[in-house]
Amino acid sequence: MIASLWLGVLALLLRGVCAVTIRSKYNDPDTGLTFSWSYEEYILSTSYFSFRTAQAPEAQNGDNYDIVLQIVAPNSIGWLGLAFGGSMVNNPLLVAWKGPTTAQPALISSRWADGHNTPKAYPEANYTIYKQGTKSNNTHWQVTARCQGCTSWSNKGSPKYINPKGAQRIAWAFSTSKPSQPANVNSAIPYHGTPNYFNHEFSTGSNTNYVTTVQKLQVLG
Ligand code: HEM
Ligand SMILES: *[C@@H]1O[C@H](CO)[C@@H](O)[C@H](O)[C@H]1NC(C)=O
Ligand SMILES: *[C@@H]1O[C@H](CO)[C@@H](O)[C@H](O)[C@H]1NC(C)=O
Repeated sequence: MIASLWLGVLALLLRGVCAVTIRSKYNDPDTGLTFSWSYEEYILSTSYFSFRTAQAPEAQNGDNYDIVLQIVAPNSIGWLGLAFGGSMVNNPLLVAWKGPTTAQPALISSRWADGHNTPKAYPEANYTIYKQGTKSNNTHWQVTARCQGCTSWSNKGSPKYINPKGAQRIAWAFSTSKPSQPANVNSAIPYHGTPNYFNHEFSTGSNTNYVTTVQKLQVLG
């Protein structure tokens, strides 16, 4: 009984799916925004990434409201993908990777998958990367961007919404290999390893001064 329990735990660890999510609030010195912060530890807790979101208090469930998001990810990954609807197919996919030059520190590609194959471009959601909060060091890279079109979409004609006053299941996946054209958001991207999931609390990212704070940020590039 005990032995089989340990074998089960071992099997989980070997699959690398034993991710731990820590949910918190993050007061960001770079942008002045307060983010809802999901901190995701994975691969025997040796790696982590952070996903953070902020929105205006006026955002309502049923709106296609803007968010500012922030991602911190290890230099060791080739790309990180986040699926706003909690699965690969029929929802907005964000694919981010570290850029090839200091002038292009990070890229975010807006994608959509109709099936379990390479996602195509998804122009209904778009990303504006900000200078503030976009940087890297020896271990991690970070990107801060506004997304228009990430909080609502149509799944085969059925409208879907992220409730800004609640939690949402987000799916994620990554590859250790880089996109073949790292300077191009339309690059081909290699297949990922085992996907994973976490519940992200959007309500914590409500910012009273959202509009004025975001207006002060400078667009990169
Ligand atoms: C690069 C091209 C991609 C290919 C060829 C691909 C292929 C696949 C395949 C074959 C599966 C099924 C695997 C299984 O059931 O064991 C799968 C599952 C999954 N993929 Fe991808 N994928 C790609 C990109 C992405 C991206 C960019 C994301 C997220 C942003 C993503 C998220 C997921 C998730 C969450 C699952 C779990 C099952 C599901 O939710 O449908 N994939 N993928
Ligand atoms: C490296 O950069 C990441 C992303 O900005 C940051 O979270 C981390 O604390 C930094 N590490 C060090 C040692 O400064
Ligand atoms: C970005 O997406 C939003 C929401 O779908 C849309 O209203 C806007 O026109 C898009 N902007 C660009 C430049 O594509």
